[in-house]
Amino acid sequence: MLIKRPRGWEIPEALVTPEEVFLNRRAFMAASGSIAAGAILGGGALVSRSLDEAEAATRHPTADLYPARRNPKYKVERPITPESVNATYNNFYEFGPHKQISSAAQALKTHPWAIRIDGLVEKPMTVDAAKLIRRMPLEERLYRHRCVEAWSMTVPWTGFPLSELVKLARPLSSARYIRLETFLDPQTARGQRASWYPWPYVEGLTIHEAMNELAFMVTGAYGKPLHKQFGAPIRLHLPWKYGFKSIKSIVRISFTKRRPKSFWETVQGSEYGFWANVNPKVPHPRWSQATERVLGTNERIPTRIYNGYGPWVAHLYKNLKGEKLFM
Ligand code: MTE
Repeated sequence: MLIKRPRGWEIPEALVTPEEVFLNRRAFMAASGSIAAGAILGGGALVSRSLDEAEAATRHPTADLYPARRNPKYKVERPITPESVNATYNNFYEFGPHKQISSAAQALKTHPWAIRIDGLVEKPMTVDAAKLIRRMPLEERLYRHRCVEAWSMTVPWTGFPLSELVKLARPLSSARYIRLETFLDPQTARGQRASWYPWPYVEGLTIHEAMNELAFMVTGAYGKPLHKQFGAPIRLHLPWKYGFKSIKSIVRISFTKRRPKSFWETVQGSEYGFWANVNPKVPHPRWSQATERVLGTNERIPTRIYNGYGPWVAHLYKNLKGEKLFM
């Protein structure tokens, strides 16, 4: 049976929140119908527990979309990292500067979830994440995931090509970069109370990189909607780059003329650059990148240039002389 799912750029009016509604975020949230009660009740432990239970009892708004069909084009020669390992070893500094943030991350309310698309686009818009995900052509891909800290995983992500989102946004010809931003909510995300970090988390890439078929907006993993610790409801994954480029829990996507400065570039630009392409021959200033530790087995294996994705992406960097492409 043929089921017609509209392509990303055929976005219905109902999916787009008018500018004036977005500007009043409170009104937007009330309009989408479920969190006004939370705002009125405020924050006692008993209240937040009962809201959590209510949320858990409610069916996830995109649960029926999973598992999505696996795209056999994206193969990995390594076994998939067990979900239990992946789900308990995460970098999500909003919830703390260590790997065991999974239970703290459950405090994040991921629906409704407004995503602002603005900057050098034909028409700025705000979309609700669940509605956006429902309209996109979801597929599962097996990707290698390599952190700058020299550990790695293999993850069955579900999502859609970032290029679909670029088409939806209709950037102007003057746009050269995309800047992505994570939520800012120190009440919920205690890590954001650490004032020495330049919150919110920001990342960026060129439009050429964004249009590459590997650039993936991730909405699920292991055949389910994303766990909160993975960056629900929507994150990026750029498998040829170090993991810090793969920004989580995105609330804003802006098209810009100037190269955006990322969170880690602001924190320590001499160690974490804009390009951050994986290269075993270019060490981090404080450690080697020649090998990586496979999470789950702790095996040490050689790292590959562009994390093994050179045939897809090496051409993007051919004419970039004098740029630090691998840090
Ligand atoms: N995005 C946000 N918003 N905050 C973060 O701390 N950490 C980055 C990246 N995206 C991070 C983030 C880093 S350093 C890595 S390695 C990956 O997320 C980790 O993703 P994972 O926890 O799903 O393995």
